[in-house]
Amino acid sequence: MSDSKTKQTVDVLLEENRKFVPSKNFQAQAFYNNDSVYKDADSNYEEYWAQWAKKLDWISPWEKILEWKAPYAKWFIKGKLNACYNCVDRHVKNGKGSKTALVWEGEPTNDQGKPKDVLTITYDDVYLAVNKLANVYKSLGIKKGDRIAIYMPMIPEAIYAMLAAARIGAIHTVVFGGFSVDSLKGRINDAQAKLLITADGGFRRGKIIPLKSTCDEAVLDCPSIENVVVVKRCDNSIEMKSNRDYWYHDLVTNVDDFCPPEEMDSEDILFILYTSGTTGKPKGIIHTTGGYMTSVLATSKMVFDLTDDDIFWCTADVGWITGHSYIVYGPMANGVTQVIYEGTPDYPEKNRFWKIIERHKASVFYTAPTAIRAFMKWGVQWIDNIDLSSLKLLGTVGEPINPEAWIWYHKEIGKEKIPIVDTWWQTETGSIMISPLPGLTATKPGSATRPLPGIKAVVLNETGEELTEGGGYLAITRPWPSMLRGIYGDDQRFKDTYWSKWDGTYFPGDGANKDKEGYFWLLGRVDDVMNVAGHNIGTMEVESALVDHSSVAEAAVVGITDEIKGQAIAAFVILKEEISAEESLESELKEHVAKKIGAIARPKIIIFTPELPKTRSGKIMRRLLRDVAEGRALGDVTTLADPNVIQALKQKYEDK
Ligand code: WTA
Repeated sequence: MSDSKTKQTVDVLLEENRKFVPSKNFQAQAFYNNDSVYKDADSNYEEYWAQWAKKLDWISPWEKILEWKAPYAKWFIKGKLNACYNCVDRHVKNGKGSKTALVWEGEPTNDQGKPKDVLTITYDDVYLAVNKLANVYKSLGIKKGDRIAIYMPMIPEAIYAMLAAARIGAIHTVVFGGFSVDSLKGRINDAQAKLLITADGGFRRGKIIPLKSTCDEAVLDCPSIENVVVVKRCDNSIEMKSNRDYWYHDLVTNVDDFCPPEEMDSEDILFILYTSGTTGKPKGIIHTTGGYMTSVLATSKMVFDLTDDDIFWCTADVGWITGHSYIVYGPMANGVTQVIYEGTPDYPEKNRFWKIIERHKASVFYTAPTAIRAFMKWGVQWIDNIDLSSLKLLGTVGEPINPEAWIWYHKEIGKEKIPIVDTWWQTETGSIMISPLPGLTATKPGSATRPLPGIKAVVLNETGEELTEGGGYLAITRPWPSMLRGIYGDDQRFKDTYWSKWDGTYFPGDGANKDKEGYFWLLGRVDDVMNVAGHNIGTMEVESALVDHSSVAEAAVVGITDEIKGQAIAAFVILKEEISAEESLESELKEHVAKKIGAIARPKIIIFTPELPKTRSGKIMRRLLRDVAEGRALGDVTTLADPNVIQALKQKYEDK
């Protein structure tokens, strides 16, 4: 179908304000297909989660399901288990060792456009790899509770690195491979990691990302790092420091094939994952073992309707929570087959994702709205002649999906036949919280629909009163197993950020609208966190990176609407007195931010200004900056110390 024809259909479908009901066939085979599950779960949510927890293998059972002293929760008290055992060993023990766990596709292609590297990896293979790597960790002196930093491309070893850490009770902290030296350094130092595992490089859009050299620079300022383990992926030239750096392939040849899984308490830390906040310093979100594993096992099953025959493809990177919960721990605890892809969707051509679905017969596809909007822009000719009939379910995550993109996804990828699950959740929640159940829920394009069974989410106003309809703040009013257990090393910030708005109620920082049928429409962040292509970036982080440049005196950063990425970054910069605002400086500053934080934080526009609009108490009025950057009429300016500042800025922007 041509793009213009699609546009027409989208308009029609949206006008009808239609709901999309799962097909009879889908309903019949779905894991949940009776609405009573919501009520049942609600009547005793602790017991509901305990039933799910029983689907894990425990070394010893829990004595009590929940202890809740807000904001501190403990789930499955005194239960003992091992996350790696649950994702790997038990499948091997149950006779599924020869089942494919991972189909991995590297990015490089040959002259015919075929991938050069494809690996089919069974659960037996994963078992051997994680046992060996766990022994490598031990041989390097890593013990239970020690932190291991992982800075890897999307290769199978990234998954082994996480599971092997879990196997010996070490705490992993994965840092997205697109982050800069400073970002990597900051996270390693905050976590006080002893070991760093990386690769020589990773392939991305046809280029080699030199991960090891980034590590070398970072580790200079990371006194806690004792060793660096390096996977050979790209064969690019790198430096190896003797007595510190070791090749992965050398180390694994010298260790035993078996490493006993460590007995972990349900509340022992499984991992720390950093996420942006409203101050410059990222927050190390803590997740523990029993509750997290329960929630990701349960939600993978109920939301993606996974069965033994499914081939699941989540396009996230393991550097984000989505990769942790819906590549490593959730799907693997369920013992499913997954597709893993190293590179970008437009390499070598804009049909790479669809080719991968066709090649590996993926049945469930989970991606981000920003990707869907890019596909829309590239056009449907990239889908023509590709067989997508293996798909049974589609999902999205990371940001609100606009109804146009939802309909496009439904029509062009789902061929109007298969359900879409729009899943709302966060690094902090650990697992999906608000989402359709695909065999049950009538969906509305753009709405994540209802909280999952066992989850209690509401919309509150500023003073904490619940709204049955209308717009306010999203809140979660009772504990759930995979809730964050804190911010690493900063308990006060944990309380202030999430638990101080209303007493005992979790505040995610998102706005939400509830319609008259009780459907939730997520509206994005209400704080100073931007969401660029599904990734959280704090305005403060970018501001700190800008003022770090020798020419910058002051900076204010806002998120502005972007057609593809959802949001883009606009920066207002005051230069130091002797510096003139040249065009080359604009690109230099953009580059500086990308270097300080990572390419995802590169500002789209930079506006030089002699002053910033401030209130009388000196607070920058970002709302007005957003108005300027988006070319809108200015909102209320009466609280400004000097209203002329913003008028001049607006004029300047319009003249540009
Ligand atoms: C946003 C990603 C609307 C939201 C799993 C949240 C969404 C933040 C959705 C968390 C969705 C995520 N609809 N907004 N389906 N999913 N968000 O920690 O603002 O990287 O607070 O976790 O992304 O981002 P994070």
